Amino acid sequence: MKPYVILNAAMTLDGKIATKTGSSEISGEEDLERVHKLRKEVDGIMVGINTVIADNPRLTVHKIPSKKEDNPIRVVVDSKARIPLNSRILNDDDAKTIIAISNSAKNEDKSVENCKHLEKVANLFYSGDEQVDLKDLMNYLYENGIETLMLEGGSTLNFSMIKEGLIDEIKIAIAPMIVGGKSAKTLFDGDGFDYMGEAIKIDFESSYCLGKNLILEYKVNSNK
Ligand SMILES: NC(=O)c1ccc[n+]([C@@H]2O[C@H](COP(=O)([O-])OP(=O)(O)OC[C@H]3O[C@@H](n4cnc5c(N)ncnc54)[C@H](OP(=O)(O)O)[C@@H]3O)[C@@H](O)[C@H]2O)c1
Repeated sequence: MKPYVILNAAMTLDGKIATKTGSSEISGEEDLERVHKLRKEVDGIMVGINTVIADNPRLTVHKIPSKKEDNPIRVVVDSKARIPLNSRILNDDDAKTIIAISNSAKNEDKSVENCKHLEKVANLFYSGDEQVDLKDLMNYLYENGIETLMLEGGSTLNFSMIKEGLIDEIKIAIAPMIVGGKSAKTLFDGDGFDYMGEAIKIDFESSYCLGKNLILEYKVNSNK
């Protein structure tokens, strides 16, 4: 079993979710309110470790009126337990945090040392060899009460999740901006596919304008 997974992201018209230097303020206040309403509805929110390092996000509901109980459980996919101990999500009591770590981290002194500190402020879940086994993680999250999960990037984790057939829905805010840059992160990076025939098929559901942004919503074909 797995949670129902909604990928949400903001991107520029040229498909970038950050600039080549990692700047990622894209969609503006109106869209952030939409995102925080979504956060309020879900049980969990998940990001990759590079997003935590780049943005140091809180991953809470704070752009709309809310109570502490509205905050989803935070999940970070971090094979080597690299998360900085001064990250905001490790130093507040706004919500529970789960760090998903791979088993290979148990053999690396630096990771073992970091985990000793991490287990005091977060729940640690070990799975997979070199990288976190995402299917296993989804099962663990579901069994621990997370029935709906918002995936908030970045592009590497987005690609792994869609490739593994773990995303059910995609909501994208397209901002009328263009930043270019061949090393700037796009909505899905990772290794990519070789042929169009391998592309993940998605079904358009709806679109609407929100301020200057265009919101696109898709369901992901069930190819699990
Ligand atoms: N505009 C938006 O909506 C938005 C939203 C979120 C993020 N962003 C931007 O996205 C950028 C970060 O994206 P990113 O692609 O560099 O990193 P990311 O997706 O945040 O994190 C990827 C990392 O997760 C770890 N990981 C562990 N197991 C994995 C697995 N099975 N599959 C995939 N990853 C796994 C890997 O590091 P280890 O091997 O060390 O574990 C991997 O390098 C930042 O610049 C951020 O600002 C933008």
